Amino acid sequence: MQLSEQPGGRRAAPGPGGFDPEVVRKDFPVFEHPVHEDKRLVYLDSAATAQKPRAVIERVVRFYETENANAHRGIYELGERATKAYEDARETCARFVNAATPRSIVFTRGTTESINLVRYAWGRANVHEGDEILVTEMEHHSNLVPWQMLCGETGATLRHLPIDERGLLRTDLLDGLVTERTRLVCVSHMSNVLGTINPVREVADAAHAVGALVLVDAAQSAPHLGVDVAALDCDFLAFSAHKLCGPTGAGVLYGRESVLEDMPPFHGGGEMIREVWSDRATYNEIPYRFEAGTMNIAQVVGMAAAIDYITALGLDAIRAHERELTAYALDAVASTGAEIYGPPTAEQRGGVVAFNLPEVHPHDLATIVDEDGVCIRAGHHCAQPLMRRLGVPATARASMYLYNTRDDVDALVASLEQAKGWFS
Ligand code: ALA
Repeated sequence: MQLSEQPGGRRAAPGPGGFDPEVVRKDFPVFEHPVHEDKRLVYLDSAATAQKPRAVIERVVRFYETENANAHRGIYELGERATKAYEDARETCARFVNAATPRSIVFTRGTTESINLVRYAWGRANVHEGDEILVTEMEHHSNLVPWQMLCGETGATLRHLPIDERGLLRTDLLDGLVTERTRLVCVSHMSNVLGTINPVREVADAAHAVGALVLVDAAQSAPHLGVDVAALDCDFLAFSAHKLCGPTGAGVLYGRESVLEDMPPFHGGGEMIREVWSDRATYNEIPYRFEAGTMNIAQVVGMAAAIDYITALGLDAIRAHERELTAYALDAVASTGAEIYGPPTAEQRGGVVAFNLPEVHPHDLATIVDEDGVCIRAGHHCAQPLMRRLGVPATARASMYLYNTRDDVDALVASLEQAKGWFS
């Protein structure tokens, strides 16, 4: 088994078959610091944001210490180093999603900005009155509200693909909902609430059969399952660095090359132009046409380091670890009497377990378990229509990643048992 050297001389954990989350955990400085003075940090909120390994932190520091200049501006050596680091990151991202060319990789601030880029740049040029956009019932607000806004502006109609009682997409209804009026189908690869892993390829095939495009929200899947834009056959795919162990403020919009080529710009400003006169401008080639102004260069470089880190461990190994831990967590959380939302098996879902304890508000629950050093999220998880579908105002949610162990799940369950005692 290969052990990969991380910058800073630390060793990453073994790959598939020998994946050891206890070893991985040592790569993350945050776990060296107790919370509430002496409590072990039990971080079960990676669906909100992931912790950062030393390799990523050190890469960002190294950029600022030895490469910092604006990218694509300075012709001096330092500027060339910054440009190289930035463009190398684009190649890393292209390989990560299996894009045919780095020209398909647009850097953004994160998933939300990536989706809004499509809304403004592609949507305004291609969506008109009478057209339809299809979203699923489990979308995060970031893959719903932009389409509501676009439909409001253009007179297009927003349609919704429902989920069933288990939290699975009703793909049997695709035939009726995807029509010759459909311009875009927006689907989350993995739900941030239910954990459901969606059959994106099936959705893409249905959309393409009527000439519609497909946008995939991969914010939750890219860090945990990995993504392959060729296999998914999607036209757009968005993800954020911060959920895959990278910095905040960086993300990617993958766009099919031919689609990006035809798209007008998003923001106007520096670097996105070819030539500017006082009353007009022509625009740069892709992907630079969509990267106006100074980008979050250090964060993009840190994102590439994060991708290197998780790919060195192996996405298959990460997924296998999370599947095993999710199966354990589903049983353990159910044993407390909690109601769990989403598909019943770990095969159908990622490492996200949303639940409610009878008679306990999830916000109270999150506050109580925090006393034991356990971090979970409580609320509507930016998915209010899904909450309405589930018939609840909010849920608690534990979400796992490569550094979580059964000890973390046990700590959550012990804390839940204690909370039950307080409310009984
Ligand atoms: N979308 C992130 C979550 O689900 C913030 O928590």
